[in-house]
Amino acid sequence: MEKYYKNLLDKNKEWVANNLEKDPDFFNRLSKGQQPPILWIGCSDSRVPANEIIGAPPGEVFVHRNIANMVIHSDMSMLSVLDFAVNVLKVKHVIVCGHYGCGGVKAAMSNKQIGLIDNWIRHIKDVYRMHQDELNSISNEEERFNRFVEVNVKEQVLDVAKTSIIQNAWSKGQEIHLHGWVYDINDGIIDDLNITLKNNSSLSEVYQLDL
Ligand code: CO
Repeated sequence: MEKYYKNLLDKNKEWVANNLEKDPDFFNRLSKGQQPPILWIGCSDSRVPANEIIGAPPGEVFVHRNIANMVIHSDMSMLSVLDFAVNVLKVKHVIVCGHYGCGGVKAAMSNKQIGLIDNWIRHIKDVYRMHQDELNSISNEEERFNRFVEVNVKEQVLDVAKTSIIQNAWSKGQEIHLHGWVYDINDGIIDDLNITLKNNSSLSEVYQLDL
């Protein structure tokens, strides 16, 4: 256990040395500031590391991760990340990336109590309720699970669009594209759900803010 822990810091020194060998200016450049073009909203799952799976170096992806890549409109952490990404960093793309095999989504399909997290998972259950006709009609449990992951991503993209932050940015003419992706932990491939939003016109009228 101790050895494992100590090894982490050794690995860090190795990583530093490798980067400096490839690019002596690497840390010097990054220390001057960041201008990432992407905000990534992903799952906390250790198998879905944001930068790594899209081959993005440090400085390219501003990241927010939580269980099941949720965009909860009262989550101060998410709102702060989104506000900073949009209004200060001026990101061009917001990507919500879910993944097949997501434990949070799986838990939302079950009635089992886990603990405090049940209250977070409640939000995912709300997505199930919104899509229950379609989801209940899928008899194969694995297929229903996969579809649930997809519709959850879709709803979270819509939830990004519903925020005052994104709607105000769009109204000011700031170009921000919202995307929904699903990462397949079985083969590492990301599937673009092709639900890109560039304005608030596809939101239900009740969510469209006067701008
Ligand atoms: Co997950």
